[in-house]
Amino acid sequence: MEYVTLANGIAMPVLGYGVYQIPPEETEACVAEAIRIGYRSFDTAQAYRNEAEVGAAIRSSGIPRTEFFITSKVWISDYGYDACRASVLKTLEVMGLEYIDLMLLHQPFGDIYGAWRALEDLYNEGKIRAIGVSNFYPDRLVDLCAFNRIRPMVNQVELHPLFQQTAALETMRKYGVTPEAWAPLGEAKKELLTDPILTAIGAKYKKTAAQIALRWNIDRGVVVLPKSVHTERMEENFNILDFKLSEGEMASLEALDQEKSLFLSHTDPATVEMFVSTLKPAPAEEAPAAEEVPAAEEPTAEE
Ligand SMILES: NC(=O)c1ccc[n+]([C@@H]2O[C@H](COP(=O)([O-])OP(=O)(O)OC[C@H]3O[C@@H](n4cnc5c(N)ncnc54)[C@H](OP(=O)(O)O)[C@@H]3O)[C@@H](O)[C@H]2O)c1
Repeated sequence: MEYVTLANGIAMPVLGYGVYQIPPEETEACVAEAIRIGYRSFDTAQAYRNEAEVGAAIRSSGIPRTEFFITSKVWISDYGYDACRASVLKTLEVMGLEYIDLMLLHQPFGDIYGAWRALEDLYNEGKIRAIGVSNFYPDRLVDLCAFNRIRPMVNQVELHPLFQQTAALETMRKYGVTPEAWAPLGEAKKELLTDPILTAIGAKYKKTAAQIALRWNIDRGVVVLPKSVHTERMEENFNILDFKLSEGEMASLEALDQEKSLFLSHTDPATVEMFVSTLKPAPAEEAPAAEEVPAAEEPTAEE
């Protein structure tokens, strides 16, 4: 395995296995199969509802806990200091683990400051080995870095050859934040896995377009987390550690950048509203309108 060193000095595998959209009843078997193939880094989230099954596979593997790198993420319904702290402790309980290697704030919305301070404290208490964020675009990331004691060590965002986010990576590097790719295969949507440039480079190394897409991210310093429920694809995605792309090949992939998410824009107000709509009514909506506040409660001139 190859590793990157996070800002706090801990080593993280450059290649992990993601479990988004794997049903809970299939997750333990998938993770066990991935462990058999050689994966040691696993990426789950409170919102995926399969943390327990990931933890069960890790515990029953017979492999020392220290050989694994386990990531989970706090969902926005548990932002704010107290709720975030309680949710991380719950994740540890549900997964049956003494510590988490990396805990991320899943989305940049809501009381991220309170949640971040809870992660800082849990990090200082040794319950989390590294803390980070996900889907924080440059302005949100710089803001968080500027006004907190600890900077995020990782930012997990959508990164694949069709959405390369070169400027966002520069901001992450400036602040010592390791970039991590979600949907490194673009969720096999669109033309990514049949792209002629990826396929031609793959022919040279006897690799598939998917393997070239993964290696390309690693070769620009990005951690990848491909997901598959199929053994042969898990093996294919793991078998990328025996070659590197040349500078010319890396440059030729720049032409694939469509500079647009395949899924959603986190800077679009409609996206924020979509996430907010999944929560309970916001406190502002529950507060009485100004004209409903009794006059007696208005401050008088003498006060
Ligand atoms: N932080 C976030 O907001 C966020 C968002 C999305 C994802 N993530 C994380 O990132 C991980 C990866 O992203 P993702 O699961 O969305 O997408 P992905 O890994 O880019 O793509 C997964 C899709 O590609 C297929 N596939 C996998 N390997 C393949 C191969 N070698 N050839 C052809 N098809 C292949 C899979 O199908 P089969 O399973 O049928 O093989 C699945 O449909 C997630 O599991 C999750 O841990 C995080």
